[in-house]
Amino acid sequence: MASPMRSLVSDYSRYVESFRRFLNNSTEHQCMQEFLDNKLPGIIARIGDKKSEIKILSIGGGAGEIDLHILSKVQAQYPGVPIKNEVVEPNAEQIAKYKEVVAKSSNLENIKFAWHKETASEYKNRIMEKKELHKWDFIHMIQMLYYVKDIPATLKFFHSLLATNAKILIIVVSGTSGWDKLWKKYGSRLPRDDLCQYITATDLTQMMDNLGIKYECHDLPSTMDISDCFIDGNENGALLLDFLTETCNFNTTAPPDLKAEIMKALQEPEFSVKKDGKVLFNNNLSFIVVEA
Ligand SMILES: C[S@@+](CC[C@H](N)C(=O)[O-])C[C@H]1O[C@@H](n2cnc3c(N)ncnc32)[C@H](O)[C@@H]1O
Repeated sequence: MASPMRSLVSDYSRYVESFRRFLNNSTEHQCMQEFLDNKLPGIIARIGDKKSEIKILSIGGGAGEIDLHILSKVQAQYPGVPIKNEVVEPNAEQIAKYKEVVAKSSNLENIKFAWHKETASEYKNRIMEKKELHKWDFIHMIQMLYYVKDIPATLKFFHSLLATNAKILIIVVSGTSGWDKLWKKYGSRLPRDDLCQYITATDLTQMMDNLGIKYECHDLPSTMDISDCFIDGNENGALLLDFLTETCNFNTTAPPDLKAEIMKALQEPEFSVKKDGKVLFNNNLSFIVVEA
């Protein structure tokens, strides 16, 4: 008998590997870098005004690649000003990778790093207990709010930590992405884990409207090359399919009818475009900039 379907995050090392494959087969980080190059300088233009140190809080910073890109933009905006960069990241492997990247990078002399091995809510509870409610000049939450249980409470709490002229940058998949359609159409038949929720920028902006939090939302196109998913026995395709469905070993554990439906749907224009013999899944991203 086939094993039952289970959520991908229940096997953390497979999750990390499939996330790596996703990054290698998508324009996810290129899309973020384009936004950071073109828009971030304007967004952070005033965050450090009249400050002797710029304080940055990274929530779910992962292995730090995007974090370092952000730091280089802050350094360019405020040359020589000391920066404190604290990272809230529950995964020890990710923290170890982040530290390696920092050790190998140059031009970080004016930055003090600190890592907290905890979730956003553990961080919140700890600093509330200790009454250490420091203010921050820039807080970012990049592709991580899916893993937070109480999103409105998290948004409200981090918003309350913003200093004068400070901003929050949130990146999540856009409501126009294939993810939104995939979750709406098949989410109820895929394994759910209370560690991961299906949310898009449309859900987040609605929550912020309800909380009276002001924001601006920018959308940028991004794609994920899922062509390998349609090649039988292809290991890369199997890991990408796990990432898409958030299911561990989807290929071997999904009921055949569900698998057939999803494989067919993924090639339809609602989800993907076909270009140069490739199937490109719509991975559009939204960049939400929150004001203090
Ligand atoms: C999809 S990765 C994104 C990493 C990085 N920000 C990027 O965009 O490349 C999500 C990250 O959030 C972290 N994470 C998961 N649950 C979290 C939580 N409750 N609080 C903070 N971070 C969390 C994960 O360990 C992982 O490093």
